[in-house]
Amino acid sequence: MSLLIQGGEIVTPDARYVADILCEGETITRIDRHIAAPAGAEVINAAGQFVFPGFIDPHVHIHLPFMGTLAKDTYETGSRAALAGGTTTLIEMCCPARSDDTLAGFEHWMAQAVGKSACDFTFHMGVTKFDGKTGAQLREIVRRGISSFKIFLAYKGAFGIDDAELYQTLKLAKELGVIVTAHCENETLVAERQKELLAAGKTDPGQHHESRPPLIEAEGVHHLMTFAEVTGAATYIVHLSCQEALAEAVAARERGVRVEVETLIQYLVLDKSYAEKPDFEGAKYVMSPPLRDVRNQAVLWNGLRSGLIQTVATDHAPFDFQGQKPMGRADFTKIPNGIPSLEERINLLYTYGVKTGKIDLHTMVDVASTRVAKLFDLFPRKGAIQPGADADLVVFDPNYRGTISAKTQAMNVDYSAFEGWKIEGRPSVVTVRGQVAIRDGKFTGTIGRGKFLERTPSHF
Ligand code: URP
Ligand code: ZN
Ligand code: ZN
Repeated sequence: MSLLIQGGEIVTPDARYVADILCEGETITRIDRHIAAPAGAEVINAAGQFVFPGFIDPHVHIHLPFMGTLAKDTYETGSRAALAGGTTTLIEMCCPARSDDTLAGFEHWMAQAVGKSACDFTFHMGVTKFDGKTGAQLREIVRRGISSFKIFLAYKGAFGIDDAELYQTLKLAKELGVIVTAHCENETLVAERQKELLAAGKTDPGQHHESRPPLIEAEGVHHLMTFAEVTGAATYIVHLSCQEALAEAVAARERGVRVEVETLIQYLVLDKSYAEKPDFEGAKYVMSPPLRDVRNQAVLWNGLRSGLIQTVATDHAPFDFQGQKPMGRADFTKIPNGIPSLEERINLLYTYGVKTGKIDLHTMVDVASTRVAKLFDLFPRKGAIQPGADADLVVFDPNYRGTISAKTQAMNVDYSAFEGWKIEGRPSVVTVRGQVAIRDGKFTGTIGRGKFLERTPSHF
């Protein structure tokens, strides 16, 4: 089966030109000015639209047992939502509890996705402890095609690891060429401040920010940078939210520490006033690190434009406003953390980043696709429009006008953090390895067709 995408404007990090793209089977086979449609080919007219490489979300949670509940999406709902928003590859975090066996955790996460996902996927392997078995098990997991780890310097008693475990994990990662992604907040300071705030009767969602201010995130980054410098491991800071934390990463990079930085679409367009909304409405906007003072948005957009920040993810973690967020109605520390955004990342980046001139189209493609593929050993199979690459393509209609609403979203959650927001442009056609999975916003893909992407470590 072949697919011909005609006349679209192809945009990659370093090129922009009008051409036809021929896909045969699962692969891009030819890019040229005028390609005659082979007999039986499906033809898509992309004139007047952009064609991007399929977007990759480097930080999502689909299966997430967390804070006494379970995130709402499954691979079936999550992959449909991803595709509707132009994301064709998911990198999920395997997050076994400290009490779980690491290898069994990996197999458990894999079982949630295999045969159930409509888009391709891989995992960062969560290292939530480092005991006598962990080293050998992580080696086995890397042998099975994983080339990145995930650690938490937050969530004391749940996923968080201590300094000896951090050191062992980074040493092993360095030896194996694995990149270590890290949630950076000082968990002791968070726990102490939470106790103080609750004791003072400060229980509302707005207190979440007070318990985890920018300095506490910056300290987490500084801490990781020290360990990265000592071990020489390659590191990647997930969901960086503020200027103070970025300054620590940049200072470390300047002295030779290997560090990449991810921010989230939520931090680029939302701010802490949302989490301060009255009548518990703010709970919709509780995540960690918290939404920050609005002044940080310019810092983050500038960081993307200037190359200080490498990627934009979602940290998708959907918990219902009715039934799950209220677990923390009387105590903000019990509000399940997360702001669902998987479906909206690209539309928001385009509408509020590109259309407003904060970043250009090439930067958008880089931070949401190509750079992600390069950092996580997926390039040029993913993140590229060139012969030989997987035919994951997003035909994006810049003339579409719409409004975000929970009523029309594919994500399996009962609210949208962006309810009523206008979007200018959206994916009209999305392909997964040569098959059309979204057409005019409607899912036409195949549940279970998504493949596990085996990766080989490169960060020696
Ligand atoms: O609030 C967040 N970020 N929820 C998901 C878990 C995590 O820390 O990534
Ligand atoms: Zn995190
Ligand atoms: Zn996360």
